[in-house]
Amino acid sequence: MCGIIGYAGQRPAVPVVMEGLHRLEYRGYDSAGVAYVRRQGIGVLRAQGKLMALEEKLASESAVSMCAMGHTRWATHGAPSERNAHPHTSNDAAFVLVHNGIIENYQEIKAALTAKGYVFHSETDTEVLVNLIAEYAKTEPDALHAFAAALREARGAYAVCLMARDEPGVIYAARMSAPLILGLGTGENFVASDIPAFLPYTRQVVFLDDGDIVRLSASGHDILRLEDLSSVVRAPQTIQWDMQAAQKGGYRHFMLKEIFEQPRVLADGLSGRVLDGDVLLTELDALPVPRKLHIVACGTSWHSALWGRYLLEHWAKVATQVEIASEFRYRQTLLLEKDDLVLVISQSGETADTLAALRVAKEHGAQTLGLCNVLGSSIARESQAVLYTQAGPEISVASTKAMCSQMLMLALMALYWGRRKGCLATEERRAIIADLEKLPIVLEQALPAMQHKARELSRKYAQARNFFYLGRGHCYPLALEGALKLKELSYIHAEGYAAGEMKHGPIALIDPVFPAFVLALNDSMLPKVVSNMEEVQARQGKVIALTNAGVKVQAEDVWIIPDMPGFLSGFAALPALQLFSYETADYLGKDVDQPRNLAKSVTVE
Ligand code: G6P
Repeated sequence: MCGIIGYAGQRPAVPVVMEGLHRLEYRGYDSAGVAYVRRQGIGVLRAQGKLMALEEKLASESAVSMCAMGHTRWATHGAPSERNAHPHTSNDAAFVLVHNGIIENYQEIKAALTAKGYVFHSETDTEVLVNLIAEYAKTEPDALHAFAAALREARGAYAVCLMARDEPGVIYAARMSAPLILGLGTGENFVASDIPAFLPYTRQVVFLDDGDIVRLSASGHDILRLEDLSSVVRAPQTIQWDMQAAQKGGYRHFMLKEIFEQPRVLADGLSGRVLDGDVLLTELDALPVPRKLHIVACGTSWHSALWGRYLLEHWAKVATQVEIASEFRYRQTLLLEKDDLVLVISQSGETADTLAALRVAKEHGAQTLGLCNVLGSSIARESQAVLYTQAGPEISVASTKAMCSQMLMLALMALYWGRRKGCLATEERRAIIADLEKLPIVLEQALPAMQHKARELSRKYAQARNFFYLGRGHCYPLALEGALKLKELSYIHAEGYAAGEMKHGPIALIDPVFPAFVLALNDSMLPKVVSNMEEVQARQGKVIALTNAGVKVQAEDVWIIPDMPGFLSGFAALPALQLFSYETADYLGKDVDQPRNLAKSVTVE
């Protein structure tokens, strides 16, 4: 995971790189560093902890330069420490490298280099790679050839930026199974793990492919293929969204802003997708309606998939299996057949396990469809067909609006296939679409009061050490998501459970200090959920009941949210769960946007 950025241009490069690192910090934040061209050699500064620590160090340096690169780290090899922080420098100080990813055969290479007399100061695979480049430089004609030769020997996933002491003003970069994007300016060029890193300066981007090497300077760039260093031309694209979308816009945290953006996300997601009571998903027109659908994802995207299954089976009668990508990729997927469709859901489009699962599905000859938020991401590019969510950049590490946008697309898919299969009556479909179109305004109006209630409840429950989240039917995946949000943000242990399963063991845990957050929405499962809730209360468990006006429930706390029909009530429940976790974590003084030990984009296994 980690974020990298390189810059060559006319501006003071270190501040440009630091600003970029701030926008990449969501990718990892346990240490950071920069490298910059000096009059003599390459200067390197590194610090453990968040970027602020690096900024403090920089304040006492005169790091003036027109060419620099930086790194913000999420530790994989070696503990978070200054020693392991990037950039890493070769023994002869001729090369400096920043790296996102994992070099799988680094131990082998390290042993060979050690035998040749190389000394290592960190536990990282990156320091091994930079020394391998230095070793090749002894025999290769120039830095480019040495860089390529070393990368050909390395196995694994990487996005790297390299500076060579003998070529000041040049940045080399390369990509293999980790995101890397070029930003093309006037008299300046950028390369970074994600677009917001350089968005204040340019919207012209080139999405690099696996096996691309770039040579970048202020005046231009060349893209070459790793295998033979042949030149390739990749057309630039213009990014439509602006910096506003990647900034906090007056909110205390990105997470809060992103929760409040959900009405807009729904409106954008519906725009151009519904017309005269029908759903348009032209990307799917060429694919047959799947006989069997396998959805594969991780984290919050997996919860969206679990939720979507209820709609796909109910409205479209498509048999749907949902799997965690890290399990799917290594399982004997005997159930996968040629005419099955594998739907891969990923906000970032870069999650390593999900990407690997997509590749496994392709090897089995299954049709593949990606549902991604990030344009040009690996999963979007490698899937046979792709649908994009319209969430815009999601910066907070804990995913919120992306889930809302994925749920919307899954609902639209279920309606679309339901129509194609002829199993969803036209009137019912039209009524659902009409209700979907009301969602943005209903949510917009409800969110301020929801936040107020979430705050009130967070004050009462913030001291709990454990929490259950209970739901049935489509509210079960939402319960899982509520629990995930609470644990990842506030570090309170929380478990999501199918309410009907409580009596098979977990109810033994219930006591007066182990509360349960119950999704008791006004749907066909309500009577069953109410019984499960009573079972908890009969054991002195305190309950927060998330419900709708007019529903008769007895609970310690009752939280009324807008009543949307059937499955659509999930769109109202989701922000309530998000806001409760947000308010609890904020009240407990936790780092809401960057929870400990996490990263937004998990590009390692
Ligand atoms: C990380 C993030 C989660 C996200 C998951 C899957 O764990 O912290 O918020 O849900 O990755 O990410 P993806 O980009 O594949 O949806």
